Amino acid sequence: MLGLLIIELNLMSKFWSHFVKDLDPYIPGEQPQGEIRLKLNTNENPYPPSPKVIEEIQNHGADRINLYPDPESNILRSTIARYHDVDISNVFVGNGSDEILAFIFYGFFKNKKNLLFPDITYSFYPVYAKLFDISYQQIALNDDFEIDLSLYHNKNAAVIFPNPNAPTGIPISGKKIESFVQENPLSIIVVDEAYVDFGTDSSVNLVKKYKNLLITRSMSKSRSLAGLRVGYAVGDASLIDGLIRIKNSFNSYPLDRIAQKASVTSFQEDSYFNETCKKIIDTRNSFTKALESLQFVVLPSGGNFIFAHPPSPLSANIIYSQLRDVGVLIRYFHKPEKLKNFLRITIGTDQQMDLFLDELKKIINH
Ligand SMILES: Cc1ncc(COP(=O)(O)O)c(C=O)c1O
Repeated sequence: MLGLLIIELNLMSKFWSHFVKDLDPYIPGEQPQGEIRLKLNTNENPYPPSPKVIEEIQNHGADRINLYPDPESNILRSTIARYHDVDISNVFVGNGSDEILAFIFYGFFKNKKNLLFPDITYSFYPVYAKLFDISYQQIALNDDFEIDLSLYHNKNAAVIFPNPNAPTGIPISGKKIESFVQENPLSIIVVDEAYVDFGTDSSVNLVKKYKNLLITRSMSKSRSLAGLRVGYAVGDASLIDGLIRIKNSFNSYPLDRIAQKASVTSFQEDSYFNETCKKIIDTRNSFTKALESLQFVVLPSGGNFIFAHPPSPLSANIIYSQLRDVGVLIRYFHKPEKLKNFLRITIGTDQQMDLFLDELKKIINH
């Protein structure tokens, strides 16, 4: 313990302000550099982007690379606008949806009296709140690990939650979200749809009706472009304008030329996109059944991952460690207490999930 404290103190620079010392950074899932047989820990897509996207990157990645990219990403924004049937003024793009979330916290949540989000959710939310010195309240999930929106009614609040939620994977119906947005016109409501394409209702079409709703989306999951770092937001033009003002006060060129071009191509490849999403949904459903036949409890998932706990006396932490020892990475959350016996497993290809099940059975039968 004392050793750890000394190492930590040694790592601190005397040039750090108290602000830096007090930060509590997000810890992303491991990105191992060495040999790993199966990587099911960060909800990446097991399929590559479409051949046309790869061709665009390989054949045109260097075109005019000596010049800065379009700071407003206009071609990409209008492509996304067409895709969602909104105006370009309703679309913002950023360096991963994480960057957009940071702008939202700073730009729209900073001065709100109440910022509400679930107690079990994307762990970057409390990190951003602390970074920007925003007080917040976490609302407990119900006993079935669901978000109960009736607990979020609050005048002049800011509310954010993912749909489906992470890491539980449980979706909320579009109908419930619409009623909630309609009943809380004075609150800004952000729905983080990072995983929505895997069978969850999207609320994107509601932004034309409700000025208090903002949707964030990621190209990292369903569009197989985690390595490119692209996310976007869709909402009322006044909200998008606020995000543009923040972007231009921080970094005018968050998306490079390659990211803009490859993302545009991705939106032109609808059938490839639908096909890979469907494959993942089918694999998720069969993998869920296979885990249930091993007596695991699997929460209903609308994402490209499942959240499950093993039957007692098996321990999630021990399974996680033993899988790691044989080169199989999944995600285990040491806190909070409620999650201690759960494992989060990204859905890969059918072959990958079969390999996973083989390794899991070896551990269970040992
Ligand atoms: C719920 C949720 N929102 C947003 C993100 C960020 O995605 P990205 O920055 O890759 O677009 C993640 C990433 O894992 C996530 O789980």
